[in-house]
Amino acid sequence: MIEHRRRAQRHDRRRSARALPGNGAPASWPRRRPAHAYAHALAATLLVAGLSACAADYPQTTFHPVTDFGARLNDVLAGAFWWMMGILILVEVLLIYVIVRYRDRPGRGEPRQVYGHTGLEVIWTLVPAAIVVAIAVPTVRTIFAIEAPPGDDAVVVDVIAHQWWWEFRYPQYDVVTANELYLPVGRPVHLRLRSADVVHSFWVPRLGGKRDTNPIPASAVQRGDGLNQLIFTISEPGVYLGQCAEYCGLSHALMRMRAVAVHEDAFDAWVQLMKAPPAPPEGSLAARGQEIFMRSTCIACHTINGTNARGLIGPNLTNLGDRWTIGAGVLENTPENLAAWIRNPQAVKPGALMPGTDAGPGGLPPTNLSEDEVGAVVAYLQSMRTPRQQ
Ligand code: CUA
Repeated sequence: MIEHRRRAQRHDRRRSARALPGNGAPASWPRRRPAHAYAHALAATLLVAGLSACAADYPQTTFHPVTDFGARLNDVLAGAFWWMMGILILVEVLLIYVIVRYRDRPGRGEPRQVYGHTGLEVIWTLVPAAIVVAIAVPTVRTIFAIEAPPGDDAVVVDVIAHQWWWEFRYPQYDVVTANELYLPVGRPVHLRLRSADVVHSFWVPRLGGKRDTNPIPASAVQRGDGLNQLIFTISEPGVYLGQCAEYCGLSHALMRMRAVAVHEDAFDAWVQLMKAPPAPPEGSLAARGQEIFMRSTCIACHTINGTNARGLIGPNLTNLGDRWTIGAGVLENTPENLAAWIRNPQAVKPGALMPGTDAGPGGLPPTNLSEDEVGAVVAYLQSMRTPRQQ
């Protein structure tokens, strides 16, 4: 009977509650979210995380290296990762077991104290020490392996970082290029890294780890002292994206590069084309552009092989028409973009040292090229295009 009355009272309360605004509860009552709201939030989070993991394209992944160097680094990482996962699981399981098994209950006294227990002290000193050794030995072996001097057949490339572009010199071939690093597949590569100004860092993730490029006095460079190096052999042809990985000033984020790995015969063909770039056909717009380029201030900073342009301050522009991008990966290499770059480089890359047509940075004189002349110079630079991109 009492139970019946109680139920009726509860029913009345619920009915009057429904009549109140705000889902029945007076504003002063603490609100509780229903459990299914949390479940929905969790499901949504997992869905977003899962879907974002499905994106197919990770051009700068470190997990799929194409060099022996990158593979070795990944092995060290994987070894340390699995040790850490094992320790994490062991510790968490023990922790949860102890929390449940030895929780305080009424009437329980103080647990047995093990402070200063020799056996335990020995175990938790020796076991971690053994794990550190198990991680350190393969790590040190890897350091020696990746620092081993390359054989005589290695392709040597001097990588010189500038604010904000990359210079690549091939002393064995007497070839210099910028921002797109051609390398042969299946042959050791020896990069000797330095900087022309501040500290930068060379990083093409699929080729392996990053490495700082430091400013070094010219005398040290002559002796081969103080150069950082990277040594690796690429196993797969492809175009691998990279970027500067050390903050180096205003346009640090606009200091990108590509490594172009090709088979050895294609590499040799590229070297030959770099040594003797195609000359523009006589009477063409490109030929006029070449003439304008050679009599303007462009040649104070830029080299084009086989011509009188021998400036060394800016990027070597030989076969520029071949490159995918200009401005160290900032713009796609199209006639429109190249013209925009020549007109006003600072609009594209803040802090760039190249003068525009109407103004130069830091007191440098402008190039004073007319719109017509810009068009001709663009035609000239774009005409230096070898069969690869056609
Ligand atoms: Cu160069 Cu950051």
